[in-house]
Amino acid sequence: MNVRPARIEDAASCGQICYAAFSKINAAHGFPTDFPDPAHTIGLLSNMFSSPGIYCVVAEIDGRVVGSNCMDERSVIHGIGPITIDPGTQNRGVGRALMQAVLDRSAERGAAGVRLVQAAFHNRSLSLYASLGFDVREPLSCMQGRTLAHDVPGCHVRAAQPDDEPACNALSRRVHGFDRGADLAQAIARGTARVVERAGRITGYTSHLAFFGHSTTESNLDMQALIAAADSIAGPGLLVPSRNTSLLRWCLENGLRVVQPMTLMSIGLYNDPSGAWLPSVMF
Ligand SMILES: CC(C)(COP(=O)(O)OP(=O)(O)OC[C@H]1O[C@@H](n2cnc3c(N)ncnc32)[C@H](O)[C@@H]1OP(=O)(O)O)[C@@H](O)C(=O)NCCC(=O)NCCS
Repeated sequence: MNVRPARIEDAASCGQICYAAFSKINAAHGFPTDFPDPAHTIGLLSNMFSSPGIYCVVAEIDGRVVGSNCMDERSVIHGIGPITIDPGTQNRGVGRALMQAVLDRSAERGAAGVRLVQAAFHNRSLSLYASLGFDVREPLSCMQGRTLAHDVPGCHVRAAQPDDEPACNALSRRVHGFDRGADLAQAIARGTARVVERAGRITGYTSHLAFFGHSTTESNLDMQALIAAADSIAGPGLLVPSRNTSLLRWCLENGLRVVQPMTLMSIGLYNDPSGAWLPSVMF
């Protein structure tokens, strides 16, 4: 087996593998597929393989690509995923090698911590990550739907602008101890980021109400306003920390449905957040 940095021309085969791997494991457990079709995963990985600040690796056996893994290294806390191995080559050590490759890289670069989100039903990924040193941090409920409420009194939600970045990043540092400023700046440029204001000041933001977006707010009320204002949730769903039962109950009362249980895991620095938050799948 050879592990090497991913190249843009690997995206077609890795995207096919990513779609096949998630579809197979989800179907085996009765869960819907995370991605609608192979074109979607090929597009996702093409984007990641060519993005500065995202480190991606592939594994080859006899010259054939059999899996890939990515890591967002634009913040002091690195975020890993998606990792997928060709279903015909799983359980033979390829996943461990691809995980070790990105962990070595984050150690070389002096990351304060590394995180990932794991499908809670998947015995193999839980075992692999725990044996590599990841600790379980937070049970998550992936939730999808459109809320009954479309606004929250007293909260004003609007598109985020570049000059909102300092306030959003300061809020993230207060809640999490670090910020994902590069991710937020990119989301503002793409037009997916929103801020919520209460009493004339920013009390929360989202990079995108989506599986691949993260949100941080001072209170559940602010988070409810962001969720209520979203016309739709992109991808499989939002990742709601299940121990925030007050927010979870509000989502349920407002018509969101639980799609699947997931688990946030980390190595290294981890602060218990002191606010409301929704991690992205690569938080
Ligand atoms: C999860 C995935 C990336 C792991 O890659 P892999 O190549 O199959 O895994 P590996 O063979 O490297 O490692 C699996 C480890 O789990 C162990 N394992 C598997 N099932 C287990 C179980 N039920 N209990 C305990 N250990 C188990 C294996 O023995 C192996 O440990 P070892 O390295 O100490 O021998 C791969 O299976 C995959 O692509 N799955 C579908 C997509 C997916 O779920 N991706 C991850 C999203 S979080």
